[in-house]
Amino acid sequence: TYVVTENCIKCKYMDCVEVCPVDCFYEGENMLVIHPDECIDCGVCEPECPAEAIKPDTEEGLEKWLQLNAEMAQNWPNITIKREPPADAKEWDGKPGKYEAHFS
Ligand code: SF4
Ligand code: F3S
Repeated sequence: TYVVTENCIKCKYMDCVEVCPVDCFYEGENMLVIHPDECIDCGVCEPECPAEAIKPDTEEGLEKWLQLNAEMAQNWPNITIKREPPADAKEWDGKPGKYEAHFS
């Protein structure tokens, strides 16, 4: 599966949802997640994210994010259509500590 990681928080560009062939993105207030049981590992979304927040779960150190994606995908609504990203998305791109400060 692919996993949405920290840099999505407060950037939430949503380009990813437009390309996913199985519509497996789910939307929280500040970020999106991928449902790990629905993702078919096609990899199409990874290069589409302007914040480079999407990674394959084969990468080191993503356990926390994989767990968060799996958990939140069950609670958050499905999203398939991109809307306007937050006006300050660019300012949040690459900021450290976004998880601690803004995840809810
Ligand atoms: Fe969707 Fe493919 Fe990305 Fe998985 S890897 S979330 S199936 S676009
Ligand atoms: Fe987030 Fe990137 Fe999608 S910022 S909403 S994972 S395009």
